[in-house]
Parts: sequence; C-alpha cells; structure tokens
Amino acid sequence: MKDLAIYGAGGLGREMLLMVRQINEKNPVWNIKGFFDDAKKKGSVTDGIEVLGNSADVNRLSAPIEVIVPIADPKIRSIIVASIVNANVSFAAAFHYSANLGDMANKFGKGCLVTANCVLTTGISVGDFAIINLACTVGHDVQIGNFASLMPGCHISGNVAIGEGSFIGTGAVIRQGITIGDHAIVGAGAVVTRNVDSRSTVVGVPARPMKSRV
Ligand SMILES: CC(C)(COP(=O)(O)OP(=O)(O)OC[C@H]1O[C@@H](n2cnc3c(N)ncnc32)[C@H](O)[C@@H]1OP(=O)(O)O)[C@@H](O)C(=O)NCCC(=O)NCCS
Repeated sequence: MKDLAIYGAGGLGREMLLMVRQINEKNPVWNIKGFFDDAKKKGSVTDGIEVLGNSADVNRLSAPIEVIVPIADPKIRSIIVASIVNANVSFAAAFHYSANLGDMANKFGKGCLVTANCVLTTGISVGDFAIINLACTVGHDVQIGNFASLMPGCHISGNVAIGEGSFIGTGAVIRQGITIGDHAIVGAGAVVTRNVDSRSTVVGVPARPMKSRV
C-alpha cells in the first residue's frame, strides 16, 4: 500500500477521507498517514485522522508519499499545490469505484479527483487537479481545464469547454457547445446558455452576469 496524505481537513477533505476509506474497503490501496491543513492545529484529530501540519511540514517529509488536495476553491487549491515543492511528494488522482469514467481513451490529469456516482462518456479530457464532485454528468467531447471544480450534480453537455480554475456551482447545467472562460464562476443552479467570459460570475436561469460583479 502507498502512503497518502489529504491536504485540507475541511468539508471536502473529510468527504475525500470517506472516499479513500471506501476505496480501501473494496481494494486496499492507500495507507492514510494524515491530513495537512493550514488552519488546523498540528496534532489535532479530524474524523480519527491526525493533522500532521501545514505546507512547511509537507515540504519536510523525508519518505515518498502521495498527496491529494480536495479543496473546492480552485485558487486556494492551486496556491497549495504550487507551495508543495518536496520531491518526495507525488500527487495522486483518485476515482470512486461508483464513478463511470466512460471511454478508456478519456484522459485524466495528475491530482484530479472524481467522486461517487459521476458519469462521464467519451472524448473527455479532465485537467490536472480538477475536481468532479458527486453525481455530475459529463457529456461527449468535454474539456475540463486544470484546477476546475465541478460541484455536486452538475450536468455538462457535449462539446463544452470549461476553463482553467473555473468553479461550476452545485446543480448547474451547461448547454452543449458552451465555453466557460478561465477562472469563471457559475452559480449554483444556473442554466448556462451563452459562453461565459473569463473571470466573470454568472447566475440564474438563464445564467447572466451577476449584477454586483459586472
Ligand atoms: C454565485 C455565488 C458564487 C455568489 O456568491 P456571493 O458573491 O457571495 O453572492 P451573494 O450571496 O452575496 O449574493 C449576491 C446576490 O446574488 C444572488 N445569488 C447568489 N447566488 C446565486 C445563485 N446561485 N443563483 C441566483 N442568484 C444568486 C443573491 O440572491 C443575491 O441577490 P440580491 O442582491 O438580490 O439579494 C454563490 O452564491 C454560489 O452560487 N456559489 C456556488 C456554491 C456551491 O455550489 N457550493 C458547492 C458546495 S459543495
């Protein structure tokens, strides 16, 4: 079994701990060494797992270890990944066994996480450190950028491109052929029928730029 640490002991981190435990019950893969977290006290315990420290502590680890970074905010996730410079650390991708990953030719980047009950079909590329969370559907020929976050229950239609570091809120629906720009935010429950500019936030049905952010 390989050693694994989870960076982020918040809600999504704890859900990923559960996922890893479920994967291990089916087929032991990882020896869970602990959490890393910048906001929690070193030595404290979350869901039965010790917090081993912060990024400085990760960078001091002297034995090979795999790390996953289940932090929903793409920006925070990318900052944390960039802060880990220890050659002993490799970033694992993790897939819940109930996820249907689709065609064998689909591509999954390093450090990406696909959680329970997601369904992907064919011609799909998932970037490095992207997160596809609970029960999302991803249609044919969708490109998901590095560090993108798809929150639970999103439906991404065919030929959609989701930009790097973009955040797709819970239950959003993206019409076919749409491009979501880099670092854009799609609000929970939005139905996206037009392309979304980089760094913009859209909400509603149909989705429109958020007035407070225009
Ligand atoms: C879009 C979003 C990022 C905006 O967050 P925010 O900037 O903090 O916005 P606020 O909560 O201050 O709301 C500002 C206005 O937009 C509206 N609004 C916020 N989110 C909305 C949404 N998803 N759909 C429709 N309207 C929304 C609010 O009702 C409010 O309107 P008002 O000014 O008329 O009262 C956020 O609401 C959202 O949807 N995030 C996704 C959450 C998610 O999916 N989490 C996953 C957890 S697993």
